Amino acid sequence: MQSADRCGIVGGMATTKTIDIRTEIPGPRSREIIERKERVVADPLSLTFPIVIDRGEGATLTDVDGNTFIDFTGGVGCLNVGHSNARVVEAAQEQLERFSHTDFTIVPYEVYVTLAERLCELAPIPNAKAAFFNAGTEAVENAIKFARSHTKRPAVIAFEGAFHGRTLLSLSMTSKTHPYKAGLGPFAPEVYRVPFPNDYRGPHAFEALAALERALVTQVAAETVAAIVIEPVQGEGGFVVAPKEFVEGVRRICDETGIVMVVDEVQTGFARTGTLFAIEHYDVEPDLITLAKSIAMGIPLSATIGKPEIIDAPGDSAIGGTYVGNPVAQAAALAVLDVIAEEDLCARATFLGDQMRERMVAWQERFPQIGDVRGLGAMLAIELVEDRETKAPAADLASAVTDEAARRGLLLLKSGIYSNCIRVLTPLTLSDAELDEALAVWEESLEAALG
Ligand SMILES: Cc1ncc(COP(=O)(O)O)c(C=O)c1O
Repeated sequence: MQSADRCGIVGGMATTKTIDIRTEIPGPRSREIIERKERVVADPLSLTFPIVIDRGEGATLTDVDGNTFIDFTGGVGCLNVGHSNARVVEAAQEQLERFSHTDFTIVPYEVYVTLAERLCELAPIPNAKAAFFNAGTEAVENAIKFARSHTKRPAVIAFEGAFHGRTLLSLSMTSKTHPYKAGLGPFAPEVYRVPFPNDYRGPHAFEALAALERALVTQVAAETVAAIVIEPVQGEGGFVVAPKEFVEGVRRICDETGIVMVVDEVQTGFARTGTLFAIEHYDVEPDLITLAKSIAMGIPLSATIGKPEIIDAPGDSAIGGTYVGNPVAQAAALAVLDVIAEEDLCARATFLGDQMRERMVAWQERFPQIGDVRGLGAMLAIELVEDRETKAPAADLASAVTDEAARRGLLLLKSGIYSNCIRVLTPLTLSDAELDEALAVWEESLEAALG
């Protein structure tokens, strides 16, 4: 990505810069396409950044006006192996030339079976079996189907701050009213909500566990609950890490009551936290795991993996769909697994996480508006507040920082139930130089927005 015309002079030393802003943002070509979009695309598909991508490479993307950005949004966590990773592109192209679709249950193909073999071998569940879908929401909804068929129970328990998708059942499990749920009900029945532990805002792990146990007395009988669904690190919820004792407590409750423990790894999955699956940080074996996003470099593919007695429970043809387990996406996923192993992206995630956390903690000391720094591996976020004492969420300040950063060539994404967190979902292939540059720009943006 680096070319001679991107060489700048910083502090008297010649440096090669990745970020290259050539026009004011949005540039004329982006503006023109966005104006066309306004006329023909549904308004709810509102835009975070007023730039239109032309191409992506590694941790960068270049817009149609020739501006190059470092991309810390990573397609909302889909690009752990980087934009347009050459090995993945080649694998997908090769598959596309052979055939693109049959519907696996009509005419099966080997790549589906090979990917299932490799994922089940890697998943922290002995003798696991897999089923593939398209989006994360489908993996979650199908996990509930497996759990209901296995337990013959209807109810589902999800947590405050959870995000599990936007189709009816998963949206019912998602826990953010605006913008996701307001006005879109009625929601699916038999979804119960309990608090998620949060070291910064509370409740403590033991209080959240007590609330879960109380819910089985006051809200829904354990013998009617099919599944408890938990993200090891809440993604859209603001990168809130589940404490070890909490995850272990959930496992214990599931063991005592026959409830299926579903670990939603759609955002945490695939090396981002320093292990392939985030649940590997815990001494816990889940019953089902859901995956999507980075498993196929953003080519739509999701998976539900789990214990055979649960996955095998629904009757013949009770699970499926025309497009589920697309062979092009699966060929890409096999290449993604190779890239993660060969480039040791788990170790890279840990390294990037350590570097970023150190800087974020220094920012926290400098800027009183940074209330919390948290995360696991390279899945890190800062939380912005009006005041350290009251912890009043500062969503506007978070937007001001992301706006300043975008203008300077760094794309950052917000999250959190109050939309006041800024999260890192950078490709893990980010180079050391790009990391330095991105953090310098982020720091400048904090200075500009927070003073
Ligand atoms: C933890 C989690 N589960 C499920 C989903 C839904 O995935 P998708 O948007 O692919 O349907 C998301 C999306 O962000 C997620 O973060």
